[in-house]
Amino acid sequence: MTATVQERRRQAVGELIGRVKAIEAADGVTRASLEKIKSELTALASRTELFPPAHFANPAGRAGTIYHLAEDPDGRFALYGSAGVPGKAQPPHNHTTWASIAGVYGDEHNVFYERADRGEVPGEGRLTKLRELTIRRGNACAMLPDDFHTIEVTSTEESLHLHLYGKTLEDLPDRITFPSSGGGKYARFMAKPEIWCPRITAPEVRALIGEMRAGGGELAILDVREEGVHARSHLFLATSTPLSHLELRIGRLIPRLATRIVLVDDDESLAQRAGRVLRRLGYRDLHVLAGGQAAWKAAGYELYSGVHVPSKAFGEHVEHRDGTPRIAASELKAKLDAGENLIVLDSRPMGEYRVMNIPGALDCPGAELVYRAFQVAPKPETLVVVNCAGRTRSIIGAQSLINAGIPNKVVALKNGTMGWHLAGLQLERGQSRMALPPTAEALAKAKSAAQQVARRFSIRSISVTELENLKRETGRTVYVFDVRSPEEYAAGHFAGAISAPGGQLVQATDTYAAVQGARIALVDDHGVRATMTASWLLQMGWAEVFVVSDAPLNSKELPFRADPPAATSIKAEQLKSRNDALVLDFATSLQYRAGHIPGAAFAIRSRLASHLASFTGPIVCTSPDGVLARFAAADLSALLKRDVPALEGGTAAWQKAGLPMETGETRMLEPPEDVYYKPYDHKSQVEAAMQDYLTWEVALVEQIRRDPDCRFKDYPPAS
Ligand SMILES: [Fe+2]
Repeated sequence: MTATVQERRRQAVGELIGRVKAIEAADGVTRASLEKIKSELTALASRTELFPPAHFANPAGRAGTIYHLAEDPDGRFALYGSAGVPGKAQPPHNHTTWASIAGVYGDEHNVFYERADRGEVPGEGRLTKLRELTIRRGNACAMLPDDFHTIEVTSTEESLHLHLYGKTLEDLPDRITFPSSGGGKYARFMAKPEIWCPRITAPEVRALIGEMRAGGGELAILDVREEGVHARSHLFLATSTPLSHLELRIGRLIPRLATRIVLVDDDESLAQRAGRVLRRLGYRDLHVLAGGQAAWKAAGYELYSGVHVPSKAFGEHVEHRDGTPRIAASELKAKLDAGENLIVLDSRPMGEYRVMNIPGALDCPGAELVYRAFQVAPKPETLVVVNCAGRTRSIIGAQSLINAGIPNKVVALKNGTMGWHLAGLQLERGQSRMALPPTAEALAKAKSAAQQVARRFSIRSISVTELENLKRETGRTVYVFDVRSPEEYAAGHFAGAISAPGGQLVQATDTYAAVQGARIALVDDHGVRATMTASWLLQMGWAEVFVVSDAPLNSKELPFRADPPAATSIKAEQLKSRNDALVLDFATSLQYRAGHIPGAAFAIRSRLASHLASFTGPIVCTSPDGVLARFAAADLSALLKRDVPALEGGTAAWQKAGLPMETGETRMLEPPEDVYYKPYDHKSQVEAAMQDYLTWEVALVEQIRRDPDCRFKDYPPAS
């Protein structure tokens, strides 16, 4: 396999930084050592093929763009690609760290100066010109921290130059600039430069996906638009990670900072903002899809509507492939009315079950089915019906029981609770009947069934020691998921494991695992739930899935907690008397609709900049638990250049104080496109939405046939 441009560039840049560090460490920062650094940079910049214009283009309307190429975790040894249009110029400035510039293409004319004064007049200075040099492919310059220079792009075409600094430009607050080549009153220079991620073309992303599938490296594709926008159209493997929530979600989605990440949006603007957030958090291998989704479509590639598409498409694929038996709602109703020997198991989590369920059904979420089936359906003659809201979890749930070889006849309820509702039948609401956990006898049967599944799908079991060894391997991500119920997880779990109830992990894999090609280790207590979950993840195309056999379940610490920025806070009782304050609510639009502080406006964090003109009075930020509110308050404080407080404890604290709430979409700063609305989340035309949803889901099986990004794995049938 030939390495991609990105891979060869990463390699070459890494080697350059290594050599530069060695030079600096051996010789310090002197004119002589900078000469050596300059030669190294010239050699890298001469490898033009590593820096294609498509990756470092200057978007229309911009005079210049600084692209990030490397930076140590502590901000040292920062390398950039500086793209400029003809005429781009910077007045005399220093760097306060050493710097070297080498040409890739185009001409950048440099004039070098030194300070001629000794700071006699505060705020002013004089410059003396030393020399000049046009930097183009093959040559370079180097400067000490106190040297000054001007730059001007003098070629008729766009230019690209590599700029290497002793320290990141994002942390050089004391750089100064003079108004003219003679000096004068100086000012701060680019205190907060906007640094971009290199772009990557659609065919290149496609190639990276192919490489990942062939075992050639991990890849995460993040759609940083709001989830409701994502649901209209997105790439098959794009995980919805809205910029608005990025800091809160990224740690668990992409635990390894060196993971290769492609950021996707409509026009590169949100993606570049997301890139800056991720870089601040320490992520280093960041790329923005050039031309956004439109470019993906223009390349002739598939785009999908809906959410959790890989999982939904997989469910349809399984039904097609395995011929999962199903029962229509009307037929099930007739059997129930006739008092036939059957049990309905609802494979959704309790929260969804409570909203509506098939009359008489027990809740038994996804991975719990094989674990509990021998307990709740001990007689082989009992028909087992598995339902969910629509299709995926009924299909996967029923097929789980079939694959596990339970003696009962098993069927999936066609189209789930939606099919039931569309058939004009009544649903129960507000129930909380859970299928019982297995007794020793039922558990023994469940374990034996799971072992059969483990053999068929060649599921690998590893010890905690082996898991620790995997985690120590650099260059690979290992997700550790606890597939038991959230309640069991809360009572005690394997340290570092993330709660991912097995059924949900299969149903919405993208919300848990954004890194394609990562390893997945599953933890539970008796191996049944982990084995069943592993069998599905393997079939979905995750190549390395393990069941951890002996994990101690004794930790109560929650991994990957994001630290919200320091923000001033206001207590609910204080806010109550602040009638002048505009409360901005960063709950989801669904949560906002269900209940918010009276007068509060629904806002989307990533879109605050477009409302600044209307934010003239006092503002308070809130969110359900007050965490996202602190991020938003920090953003707004920076945008408005004044202190914006967050409500301490968020809207929950307001409610806890017994203060009134208001419902409905009463004050919407943005359309409710922050989250995906399930058919039954709609206020009207619910039936049409249900029908559309079911049609969409069934059609996925055709669409994925056209898409090489989708690669499910088929195993030989059970013998
Ligand atoms: Fe400079």
